Amino acid sequence: MAVQSTSSSDTAAALRFVMAVEQHTESTLLSDELRSQLQAGTAMVWEHQAAGRTMGWAVAVAHGEGWSTEVVALLPSATEQLLLDVIVSARTAGARNVRWWTHVADPSLGGIAGTLGFSLDRRLLQLRVDLPLTGDDHPADDPHPVQAATRPFRPGDDDEAWLVTNNTAFAWHGEQGGWTLTQFRRRCSEPWFDSADLLVLDAPLTSDGGLAGFCWTKQHADLAPMVGEIYIIAVHPSLAGRGLGRALTTAGLNHLYLAGARQGMLYVDETNRPAVAMYRRLGFITHHTDVSYLMKLEAP
Ligand SMILES: CC(C)(COP(=O)(O)OP(=O)(O)OC[C@H]1O[C@@H](n2cnc3c(N)ncnc32)[C@H](O)[C@@H]1OP(=O)(O)O)[C@@H](O)C(=O)NCCC(=O)NCCS
Repeated sequence: MAVQSTSSSDTAAALRFVMAVEQHTESTLLSDELRSQLQAGTAMVWEHQAAGRTMGWAVAVAHGEGWSTEVVALLPSATEQLLLDVIVSARTAGARNVRWWTHVADPSLGGIAGTLGFSLDRRLLQLRVDLPLTGDDHPADDPHPVQAATRPFRPGDDDEAWLVTNNTAFAWHGEQGGWTLTQFRRRCSEPWFDSADLLVLDAPLTSDGGLAGFCWTKQHADLAPMVGEIYIIAVHPSLAGRGLGRALTTAGLNHLYLAGARQGMLYVDETNRPAVAMYRRLGFITHHTDVSYLMKLEAP
C-alpha cells in the first residue's frame, strides 16, 4: 500500500509524472483545482510503483466533509490500487466521502468504480464550437442584447464584486460555489492568468455590489490550432433570463477568436439545463464527458 504524502519532493514528482503522461497522451488528465493545489503544495499524493517503476500517482484534497481525488496511472490495476490507498487514508482521517473525477473516456474506469463500491455522481460535458461563431440562430429583432459592454477585469478592485456574483450564481454548485478570496486570488496567480481574458459586465447594477456578470476565458496556446476556453461564466441571478449570458458567451468567444483560437471549448454539468440550452443554441456540440464517482464512508 502506498503512503499518503504532502512532502514537496513528492508533490513535485507527482506533477512531473502527470505532465509527462499528459504530453504523451496529448490530453488533460488533472483538473485545474487539483493541479493548482499540487503546485501550491496543499494536496496529498500517493505513488504506486511496480518493479521499482512509478506506475501512477493519486492526488487528493479535502473538500467540505469529503475528499476529492484524481488518479493518473499507466495501468487500470495501478488506478485501482491508488484509489484503495486514498479510500483507506480518507476513512482514517474521518472524511465522510470520496469523490473520484475521471477525465478520459476509458471504459475500464466505470468497472473499477463499480468494483470498489463507488456510485455514479456527476457527468461533466466538454462542449466545443468552431470559431468564429456562426451558429447563433436568434432573429435580428431579438429583444435581448447580442452584445455586452464588457471590460477587462481589474485585479484588486474587482475581486470582491467578482466573488459576490460567482458565489451567488453558483450557490448550488459543490465546487464552483463558496469560493474564498484566497482561492480566487490563487487562481489569478496561475501562470496562464491574464486579467484581459476575464471579461466583466458592470451594468445593470446589482443590489449586493456584485458584477452583473462575467466571462472568464482561458487560452490553450499549447494546442494547435489554439483552443479557447470559456473557463467560468456567470450572470448575477437577479439579472437572469435577459440575454446577458448569451451576450457574455458571444463576447468571450469573440475575444478568444481575436486572440487566435479557432475552437471554443467549455465544461458544463449535464444537468445544468439553462447553460446547456444556451450553449447548444449557440452551436456547441459534445466533445467528450468527464465523469465523477462518489463513495460514502462510514466512520472508522
Ligand atoms: C447559464 C447562465 C450564464 C445563463 O445566463 P442568462 O443571462 O440567464 O441567460 P440568457 O438570458 O442569455 O439566455 C440564453 C439562453 O439560455 C437558455 N436559458 C436561460 N435560462 C434558462 C432556463 N431557466 N431554462 C432553460 N433554458 C434557459 C435559453 O436557451 C436562452 O435562450 P433564448 O435567448 O433563446 O431564450 C446563468 O443562468 C448563470 O449564471 N447560471 C449560473 C452559473 C452557471 O451555471 N454558469 C455556467 C457554467 S458552465
